[in-house]
Amino acid sequence: VQHRPLFGRHILVTAGPTHEPIDPVRYIANRSSGKQGFAIAEAAAAAGARVTLVAGPVTLATPPGVDRIDVESAREMADAVAAALPADAAVMVAAVADWRARDYAADKIKKDGGQLAPLPLAENPDILATLAARPDRPRLVVGFAAETSDVVAHAMAKRVRKGADWIVANDVSGDVMGGADNTVHLIRADGVENWPTLSKADVARRLIEHIGEELAND
Ligand code: C5P
Repeated sequence: VQHRPLFGRHILVTAGPTHEPIDPVRYIANRSSGKQGFAIAEAAAAAGARVTLVAGPVTLATPPGVDRIDVESAREMADAVAAALPADAAVMVAAVADWRARDYAADKIKKDGGQLAPLPLAENPDILATLAARPDRPRLVVGFAAETSDVVAHAMAKRVRKGADWIVANDVSGDVMGGADNTVHLIRADGVENWPTLSKADVARRLIEHIGEELAND
């Protein structure tokens, strides 16, 4: 049992960016590689959990023993998360686009002389906040917060605002996105743990250890 502390648990993980279509050939995206989320899914499966990994567009291999659902946009990701419930814990690592193009153009938008086509935006649903507010929410809802300044203060506010139990905060002012290492702070209701710089695999294993301990407290 001790080396499979998540045996019998269902862990839901989101990872990667989202792509928000503008027209058949263009989209809005961001620099998330999906590496940290995939590492968390892998660590959860290695700890014995059943794992559902909802992945945006990334070029990563599916970790062993993980059920992967590929999505493109934030709204598809929101639907896939809802469909994966119930879960014992959710770790929302995806870098969900905050905005999408308000209107999808079925035909490729053309250059028009010197006139720029307008690109009105609409706000995407907050998948983490929506999940945390559901009556059937996972017992433990963990968010990530990528910040470029005042990392811990912003992330503490985010934990409360979004209704997450824990936030893993990281400073992305360097080359974290796409890189192999991560320096994070684990923010819970009762305080902050500052972790040393670790590989994304080690951040994942350490987080999964904490999740196992938390879920064992029932
Ligand atoms: O507000 P911010 O995007 O920094 O919050 C990051 C956290 O919220 C991450 O856990 C991310 O997966 C989640 N999130 C989400 N849906 C959004 C935006 C962020 O689930 N639309």
